[in-house]
Amino acid sequence: MYPIELNGISCVFGSGVRRVVALDHIDLTVGQGELVAVMGPSGSGKSTLLNVAGLLQQPTSGRVLIDGVDTSNMNDAYAARLRRQHIGVVFQRYNLIPTLTVAENIALPLELEGASFASLTDDIAAALEEVGLSDTFDRYPGEISGGQAQRVAIARALIGPRSIVLADEPTGALDTSSSEEVMKVLRDRVDRGAAGILVTHEPRLAAWTDRIVHVRDGKISVKEF
Ligand SMILES: Nc1ncnc2c1ncn2[C@@H]1O[C@H](COP(=O)(O)OP(=O)(O)OP(=O)(O)O)[C@@H](O)[C@H]1O
Ligand SMILES: [Mg+2]
Repeated sequence: MYPIELNGISCVFGSGVRRVVALDHIDLTVGQGELVAVMGPSGSGKSTLLNVAGLLQQPTSGRVLIDGVDTSNMNDAYAARLRRQHIGVVFQRYNLIPTLTVAENIALPLELEGASFASLTDDIAAALEEVGLSDTFDRYPGEISGGQAQRVAIARALIGPRSIVLADEPTGALDTSSSEEVMKVLRDRVDRGAAGILVTHEPRLAAWTDRIVHVRDGKISVKEF
């Protein structure tokens, strides 16, 4: 059983002359403790692949299994719960809310589900410690650097026991040393038993992963081990 298993995934957008086959019969499994890089040209389907794996988007056909559980016929509420409990997603833009403190930003997704801030403070402190930012708990996003903000976004994605990490060009807006910090955090979480997918254009970042999958025109073209 794999944390992430994609079987025969196709994803078609639009119809007629606007029809785009974003993913064309993709198979991909990611094991526990494994970080896989997805690389490929712009428009090749990388973000679509990540969104499908993260249950943010339904494929047109094929099956997504999360921890061995087939998600194809799950209702939205159940899929959302599975996602919140197991899957952390990091995007290129960190989307922190400027009027909330770092800790409040991390708490927000869980508060929306009914958890109280007070009940979350230990988890928030642990998540911030994991990304090396314990001292930013009460700061506002405007008072930290871009690299720190991205690490806060990762803390938000990884809070609690989430065992699947999906990152779509998480270092796109960052300088080299901040990118390395972000990769270190992703790598650490995977080494402690998570499964991860990293979409990146940069071979230097792909070097942090265990395996590179190349996507072209919605198909996996080469696998390197
Ligand atoms: N919501 C959508 N509606 C219509 N077409 C879409 C949609 N999302 C993606 N596409 C198309 O699907 C294809 C794959 O897009 P995707 O965003 O997955 O590419 P990508 O590899 O992530 O590209 P980039 O490197 O530029 O981020 C592209 O042709 C894109 O235009
Ligand atoms: Mg993309």
